Amino acid sequence: MKRSLILLVFAGLAYATPVPSTLITNIERRTTISLNGAWRAIVDPFDNGTSGAFYRNRIPKDKSDLVEYSFDASPVLNVPGDWNTQREQLLFYEGPVWYRRVFNYHKPANTRAFVYFGAANYRTAVFLNGERLGDHEGGFTPFNFEVTHLLREGENFLIVEVNNLRRADGVPALKFDWWNYGGITRDVSLVEVPAAFIQDYSVQLAKGSQNEIAGWVQLNGVQSAQKVAIEIPDAGVHETATTDAAGRASFRISAKLDLWSPEHPKLYDVVLRSGADTVHDQIGFRSIEVQGGKILLNGAPIFLRGISMHEEAPFRDGRAFSPEDAQTLLGWAKDLGCNFVRLAHYPHNENEIRLADRMGLLIWSEIPVYWDVDWQNPATLANAEAQLRDMIARDRNRAAVILWSLSNETPVKPERVTFLKQLAQDARELDSTRLITSAMNHTDNSVPDVRTLTDPLGEVLDVLGLNEYVGWYEARPEDADKLQWKSKWDKPLIVSEFGGGAQYGRHGEPDERWTEEYQANLYQHQLAMLQRMPNLAGLSPWVLMDFRSPGRMLPGIQDYHNRKGLISNRGQRKQAFFVLQKFYENLSEAKK
Ligand code: GCU
Repeated sequence: MKRSLILLVFAGLAYATPVPSTLITNIERRTTISLNGAWRAIVDPFDNGTSGAFYRNRIPKDKSDLVEYSFDASPVLNVPGDWNTQREQLLFYEGPVWYRRVFNYHKPANTRAFVYFGAANYRTAVFLNGERLGDHEGGFTPFNFEVTHLLREGENFLIVEVNNLRRADGVPALKFDWWNYGGITRDVSLVEVPAAFIQDYSVQLAKGSQNEIAGWVQLNGVQSAQKVAIEIPDAGVHETATTDAAGRASFRISAKLDLWSPEHPKLYDVVLRSGADTVHDQIGFRSIEVQGGKILLNGAPIFLRGISMHEEAPFRDGRAFSPEDAQTLLGWAKDLGCNFVRLAHYPHNENEIRLADRMGLLIWSEIPVYWDVDWQNPATLANAEAQLRDMIARDRNRAAVILWSLSNETPVKPERVTFLKQLAQDARELDSTRLITSAMNHTDNSVPDVRTLTDPLGEVLDVLGLNEYVGWYEARPEDADKLQWKSKWDKPLIVSEFGGGAQYGRHGEPDERWTEEYQANLYQHQLAMLQRMPNLAGLSPWVLMDFRSPGRMLPGIQDYHNRKGLISNRGQRKQAFFVLQKFYENLSEAKK
């Protein structure tokens, strides 16, 4: 993808502002034709498809013609879905796969059409009827291309190359602790919109307010000022605004609102109208702020009883994508007594975010700037900025999302702070209402039994995230009892990871690794230690469910799975699940 950063030199300060998003938001409420289903697929480890122009979908023109590929004769892969868990021989596959979907189309008058991908991992090139539409980099954010003038009446063929090869300049880069699931991993649809349509919008409470909505509506395809109507019938809101030269209408509306919270996840019907387009959404209104070491939800301190989770499908393994997967995973978090989930380490699918809105689960959402990336590479920064921009564009109207996380466990070096400061600036520019965080894992341990958070990244954040593995990667669980924790900043602190591995059903003494007793004992000592932490505003232990990972190869115990789950990947609850559940239950009791 050609990436051009719009360099704005303003008052001597040169800063890059991300390329505007071209995403159409709120896909589920648009007029769409699903392209999910069985796609023909060619596994192409040497990328012959590029030189062989597979995108032309050629068939031999006569019996002597040489064509060395055939979609028609190739097996299928289901979309959405990673390829790794669809075919045994693709479990470890990293490289290009060429997908083809043939579909019939009848184009309505005065309609524009876009092809929309919920996500594809990792680099994607898209072709329609032999013409390149464009490409996308990043495995967990949506993207769309306009196809209005390329669609044919009748039969069309869409060809997509997905390449999940890891890249040193990628986001994430070459090493990460999750399975490199490749493929078209989320829904694909054709989206039909009027010639001038509502592309994107923000309808949220203004920062620090509980009764004033500040928002905007972005039109696409307009050349002159247009009226936009904003209606929230149950709140008695019927307002209009007018677009500026860039097709954006901004507004501030006073309203008496029933605020959204985990206990009361109130969603309002919101209707946006402009010209021939009308978009309906379900939006909750809540405020989220920090005050000293506390996080305030709707003006009151809240403690985040959380859990971290990967986007791993329960029971079947592979990438989760369906409403049913989301229901199972978030249902387990609710059973645990959570009001908060950390969606690690990348933006999860939209089903999950919208379900959290309805269930009343607060969300930490994160881009995969994970461990080490190519900090000094402008293309890597632009990629991270685009992933951040598109994560925010897709989910900025979801009340459940309270934290945008910029990174996970990145090394303390100057070029990393510069990189992440740019992302923090982008995030605040793109969304002034939410809090910015990152999971850090470096502390000053120069004083015996004292851990002090001094990571310079803390300066940039609203909320400090800390991953620590006392009792697993360092020391014994019992050593947590004597540890003191300090922080350089008077800011809220979330322990975004702690934990230890256990194989479900393996039992022994509490000091025997990989037993449920070891994991439960570790949780007991960790939870006692955390209660002594200054400014502790929440925790999201690692991790809800065992998940597949290439670095976890202990036979008979890990078998390429990270076993720190409180629940096995077959849905079996380990002893530590009940330790944390009891802790959260007591916390909730104490609050009543
Ligand atoms: C790290 C990392 C996780 C990883 C976990 C582990 O903190 O953030 O992605 O899975 O530790 O080692 O299990």
